[in-house]
Amino acid sequence: MSTVLVTGGCGFIGTGVVRRLVADGHTVVVADHLHPQVHPDTSAVEALPAGVIHHAVDVTHAPSLDSIVRIHRPEIVVHLAAETGTGQSLTEASRHGMVNVVGTTNLLDSCTRAGHVPTSIVLTSSRAVYGEGAWIDEADGSVFYPGQRVPEDLDAELWNPRSPSGAPSRPVANEADVTEPRPTNVYAATKLAQEHLLTSWCTAMRSSAHILRLQNVYGPGQSPTNSYTGVLTYFAVRATAGLPIEVFEDGDIGRDFVFIDDVVDEVVRAAERSDGNSLVDVGSGQRSTIESAAHIIAAAAGAPSPVVTGAYRLGDVRSAWAASNAGRPRTPLDIGLRELVDHMVGRD
Ligand SMILES: NC(=O)c1ccc[n+]([C@@H]2O[C@H](COP(=O)([O-])OP(=O)(O)OC[C@H]3O[C@@H](n4cnc5c(N)ncnc54)[C@H](O)[C@@H]3O)[C@@H](O)[C@H]2O)c1
Repeated sequence: MSTVLVTGGCGFIGTGVVRRLVADGHTVVVADHLHPQVHPDTSAVEALPAGVIHHAVDVTHAPSLDSIVRIHRPEIVVHLAAETGTGQSLTEASRHGMVNVVGTTNLLDSCTRAGHVPTSIVLTSSRAVYGEGAWIDEADGSVFYPGQRVPEDLDAELWNPRSPSGAPSRPVANEADVTEPRPTNVYAATKLAQEHLLTSWCTAMRSSAHILRLQNVYGPGQSPTNSYTGVLTYFAVRATAGLPIEVFEDGDIGRDFVFIDDVVDEVVRAAERSDGNSLVDVGSGQRSTIESAAHIIAAAAGAPSPVVTGAYRLGDVRSAWAASNAGRPRTPLDIGLRELVDHMVGRD
């Protein structure tokens, strides 16, 4: 069994990962300063399993990370601490850069200063690195990368990216070995930077970098008070308050919603391997629309029907889903969403 350092271990994904690592017999050390936007109080620390060592440390503070690495010398690092606001990252770019990019280099430098190379480092990257990803021009079936949608098109309700021929276009699933990363927001750019930093450092130091590009993770435990949080938690907050869910664009925004327990499985599986670098997508392999997910949540919560508003958020992509579920069973969306709603109304 190993000593595992989990940065961001008090967060949505971190909480599940820490519990599973403890159950597997590892010694777990958490570095998490409880971001006030995510944590209104200290209950996440109190909920950590017995025996977990918590350091209230900000990853941008190098001396604190130095102490943690020097004292615990973790064989495995699971690096989750991050600023995660997609829209917010456009107006708070430096904060995202500091925490996500410099926070990652601090971690690596702390290992160097301690003369310690972990066997492996796991990074939860994001499907956001693909941006709009690849699309097909229906005129001739050719693949194109549309890049970021512009406000003029969105104001005119041209939701799908324009194709080179002007003919209708359709999206292609994200596939790590195939789809080129083309970030369309600052958060995504910092996640891609994290990938490059870790892969180059781990390769040089003979460690293993395991990078998981997570699609949209949902389920019980995501901060309901963080207004920049996941879309389905936001929907569930509205629906359980008896309010109609407001759905952006024409409702046909495509996402791959993957349940928290399935993601925890994948992160822990990655943490427990040490065989060279790896880069994988983690999703359900299914494309759902946000409107269909809103209807499931509204029905589960007994809320009014969702309303499609035509509003949009700069930097959002039109469509994203993973090409496969890596052959692993995933929680069906209706079951996962019911669990989310039950959790929010205290039925679980
Ligand atoms: N939830 C998703 O849908 C999703 C999708 C793709 C990637 N990810 C990635 O997974 C990771 C975890 O996401 P999450 O959904 O659990 O987010 P979260 O906000 O629930 O958890 C992040 C945790 O990191 C901590 N943290 C933030 N800044 C910190 C700092 N400067 N120093 C120390 N701790 C800090 C927070 O207090 C929080 O507990 C992130 O790296 C995120 O980019 C999440």
